[in-house]
Amino acid sequence: MSRRDGAEPGLPAVDLRTRALDLTELMDDPDCDPRALARTFRRFALVNALVSGWRAVWRTHVVPALPVNGRGRVLDLGCGGGDLARAIARWAASDGFDVEVVGVDPDARAIQAANRRAPHGVTFRQRSSGDLVAAGERFDVVVSNHVLHHLGDQERSGFLADSEALASGRSLHSDIRRSPEAYRAYALASPLVAAGTFVRVDGLRSIRRSFTLAELRDTLPDGWRAERAAPHRVLAIHDA
Ligand SMILES: C[S@@+](CC[C@H](N)C(=O)[O-])C[C@H]1O[C@@H](n2cnc3c(N)ncnc32)[C@H](O)[C@@H]1O
Repeated sequence: MSRRDGAEPGLPAVDLRTRALDLTELMDDPDCDPRALARTFRRFALVNALVSGWRAVWRTHVVPALPVNGRGRVLDLGCGGGDLARAIARWAASDGFDVEVVGVDPDARAIQAANRRAPHGVTFRQRSSGDLVAAGERFDVVVSNHVLHHLGDQERSGFLADSEALASGRSLHSDIRRSPEAYRAYALASPLVAAGTFVRVDGLRSIRRSFTLAELRDTLPDGWRAERAAPHRVLAIHDA
């Protein structure tokens, strides 16, 4: 990656060679505008549906890890506004599975947003992964979206250890794969959906904080593997 690879009109050149760990997201500021935050949670549901590729990952990586009787529990760790948990419940129902989905996030504002729409079969709770481990909870499949890039090294180690402890089947954490192409595509497309939200700034910062496939491989503990998923995605996977 060259230094100016991420440059595009209206944006300063950015260095995508290494993870930009100094960047924080606007929505993480506890004093950010609550109305803009509520809009951001709703709008990220749309962005996630467009970019995160979970529909395919559900079929290829979640379904095979569910119990053969078709009944199971799926946990979405760091659920934010809850869109992935809701989508999994929808796909499970339409594919004939009887799945209970739990979404947790330690951020009360996220759980408040998620609870505005908690359809049958989906529960949202204000908890961290560590809270669930302490409570002795177990799930067939533990997933997350866009959490790995968000965490510092120590937090991520704890998060992955918690995920292993919580999953009786598979842990599956999906995130952005950092690249100039991902950055440029998001910089060009995000203005279409970003008005009145933090979606553009936080999305671009998230891309800059995210891993390449090689970086994720190097950082995962023993027993985990990293896979590339198209387009612009990585998966961290652990099978119990
Ligand atoms: C970048 S947001 C992603 C939200 C959502 N999954 C999405 O894709 O829009 C990362 C979330 O992880 C949550 N988080 C951080 N550490 C966590 C932990 N140990 N257990 C559960 N959630 C955690 C944060 O509160 C934050 O809401």
